[in-house]
Amino acid sequence: MEDFLFVLGSNFRLSIAELDNVLKNSQFKGRIKDYSANIAIVEFESLLEDKIYINKLMELQFLLGGCQKIAKVYDFIDIHTIKTGFPTHIDKFKLVERTRNKIKEIIGNCLDNIFRRIKKKNLFYAVSIYPNLFDDEYYPDILVKHFLPFLNTEIMAILYEKGAKKALYYSYPEKNIKSGHLNPIFPHVLIKYGLFNEDRAEIIFGFTEEGVYIARTFTADDPNFKKKIDEEKPFKEFKSSISPKLALIMLNFLNLFEKRESKKILDPFVGNGTMLLFALIQDFQIYGSDIDAESVEHTNRNINWLLDELEEEVPLFLSERFKAADIKDLSNIFEKNFFDGICTEPFLGPYYKKRPYYVQARHLIDTELTPLYETIFREANKVLKSKGRICMTSPIISTIDGKDIQPNVKQIAINNNFKLIPMVDAERIINKSNIKLQFQRQHLTNLIDAKKNQIIKRKIYVFEKQ
Ligand SMILES: C[S@@+](CC[C@H](N)C(=O)[O-])C[C@H]1O[C@@H](n2cnc3c(N)ncnc32)[C@H](O)[C@@H]1O
Repeated sequence: MEDFLFVLGSNFRLSIAELDNVLKNSQFKGRIKDYSANIAIVEFESLLEDKIYINKLMELQFLLGGCQKIAKVYDFIDIHTIKTGFPTHIDKFKLVERTRNKIKEIIGNCLDNIFRRIKKKNLFYAVSIYPNLFDDEYYPDILVKHFLPFLNTEIMAILYEKGAKKALYYSYPEKNIKSGHLNPIFPHVLIKYGLFNEDRAEIIFGFTEEGVYIARTFTADDPNFKKKIDEEKPFKEFKSSISPKLALIMLNFLNLFEKRESKKILDPFVGNGTMLLFALIQDFQIYGSDIDAESVEHTNRNINWLLDELEEEVPLFLSERFKAADIKDLSNIFEKNFFDGICTEPFLGPYYKKRPYYVQARHLIDTELTPLYETIFREANKVLKSKGRICMTSPIISTIDGKDIQPNVKQIAINNNFKLIPMVDAERIINKSNIKLQFQRQHLTNLIDAKKNQIIKRKIYVFEKQ
């Protein structure tokens, strides 16, 4: 089998939308053949023909905001076999035993591929199980309490049978196993335990509705790198900043995958520059503006700090690319038809400590947000090149009287010569029977990034200049 398993970010729909868009439009051509709320299985068109495909996977990992790990798939066991071997109630002992032996045999064959050599080697492995959904009861009751211990001990036994000098596994805290509340190991643990080394491996058992994919992790997100940029930059304001992951995802929706170093992108609500910092590490030519002169200065200082950290030269006249200006003056401060893309989080409303009344939110939308969003599209239409895209967030405000309310961004964009670009291509997403996994019609045009009980939720849209 020549498939790869991608461990998705916490917002799986957004992660899948990003991944599918990249597989459709970038040099990494491929297709998602199966998915769950935690993983996606990808078949590439030609990746494996490349001798150094691991480098390509690392590039892809670096590009994606919604991907935690990438692993190579070695085999698949259908869900019926798994549920026969690991039923919720055991009454046919013989059948269970026979099925478990069959599962062991499949795992044994995989191990020959996962480790380059087993004989006389000191081996170490960590088993990570990703369920179809973390809130499926099958996960805590069976997969954590029975399947995981089975895998740990059986893999060890098989490795000894195959001649390993020593075989050890990563043991999760006993209390988590007993309670069934278990998170598979995080990327930084992979790095800490050297699980990319030849004699060490993270072995992933990734479930979907169809069955379980057995895979070995090849590359993982380096959270320390993103965290460092986000937390150590000299000027920060967490209240209004978007997350590094979301910044990367939004940048990918601009569909600018080739020659990024020559593509000019703009954030006209630049704040402290989070979006631009991540655009910089993705090689874009960055430009920004903000009504607040102090924010523009902070962006300038943050960008210079990052260039220094990366030991890169500061481009000539860099500071002239960041300007203090109201959005209404955008086309006066930047050239017309200049930018390849705009990626931004505009003003989404005040920082509410408690939910506003419906009438208050309505007033805010009618008197401030709608005129602001109209100005954004009017000006974006002037400074963007033809077919240039804008990827932006807009607010959904949750009110005390219960109703959520939002500006009609789609209509405003259409009135200003923009077309709405679906974030998900319905024809490329396979069907799932569980409603929690499905993509509904509203997911196709926009996706939401929000935590539970958040007062202002972010809606993410992509538009293209006609
Ligand atoms: C949500 S923040 C952007 C945060 C930024 N994306 C970040 O992550 O650091 C919105 C920014 O919009 C700016 N802003 C508000 N009204 C504006 C206007 N009319 N024109 C330009 N900028 C404006 C504010 O000064 C603020 O920095």
